[in-house]
Amino acid sequence: MRSVLESNGRPLELSELEFSLISKFILEKAGIDLNLKKMPLIKARLAGRIRMLGMKSYRQYLKHVKDDPTQKELVRMIDKLTTNKTSFFREVEHFDFIKKNILRQRDLKKEPLRVWSAGCSSGQEPYSLTILLKEEYRYLTKEDFQMLATDISAEMVNKARLGVYEEDTMEDLPAAYMLKYFTKVAAPESRTKYKVRDDLKQHVRIARLNLISEWPMKGPFDFILCRNVMIYFNRELRENLVHRYGKLLKPGGYLFIGLSESIGGLLGELEYVQPAIYCKPQ
Ligand SMILES: C[S@@+](CC[C@H](N)C(=O)[O-])C[C@H]1O[C@@H](n2cnc3c(N)ncnc32)[C@H](O)[C@@H]1O
Repeated sequence: MRSVLESNGRPLELSELEFSLISKFILEKAGIDLNLKKMPLIKARLAGRIRMLGMKSYRQYLKHVKDDPTQKELVRMIDKLTTNKTSFFREVEHFDFIKKNILRQRDLKKEPLRVWSAGCSSGQEPYSLTILLKEEYRYLTKEDFQMLATDISAEMVNKARLGVYEEDTMEDLPAAYMLKYFTKVAAPESRTKYKVRDDLKQHVRIARLNLISEWPMKGPFDFILCRNVMIYFNRELRENLVHRYGKLLKPGGYLFIGLSESIGGLLGELEYVQPAIYCKPQ
């Protein structure tokens, strides 16, 4: 790993005490549970910002974050510490389930669909779902399908809003969808990029939202995708979130989590359907 230096060239050390102060703060502010194993990662991810601000220690940086009344530095810090890995049609089993068990069972003109992607990262998840809807319903209107996509990271929210992706990050997207739903962005000096078309974008409202804070929306949603997000949260927080998701779902609605996650024992009113899919009984 690249050595972590202060702006004056001296090594920037992260003590266990500083790490525990930072992890306590991040747990409180974002729900993210950083264990000791994450110490090298935290050290590396915050070092650049500390150097840029000309600071001498992690403790000084933490104080700076806490003292900032605008919370802009807190947002920056969270941006640095979150993992935003995502891709188009990630965990494709969920898209198959949605197609067969939800979309093909209903007439959207009679019963519009409302969905929430909670922890949407840079937008591939909500746009993949919108493509699925467009493929299933030829005359899909904004009234038929609306989606809310939220993330705590300001940087990811901006990326999702922009909807511009580098070609080599789009390999899971069938070529036909690329032609139909994206336009090539002229960027001769850099790698080829594609921009989501407006007719896809019009279905997706993107906002910054911290899942551990109050939620302004009332729902109800037909389904909620919270995939590969709760993995960073402790049991208490996951239980609380699952309970709150249950309240926002329509009876018969579904909660999707990541395939490698588990909410066994925390289901509350939800019922297991198949791996990583849960249903609120009718
Ligand atoms: C690994 S990405 C998952 C993206 C997408 N759902 C998927 O499965 O491909 C996890 C996302 O959760 C977001 N996240 C982490 N903590 C959060 C919180 N407290 N509130 C809202 N979003 C959060 C991160 O910023 C990140 O973009």
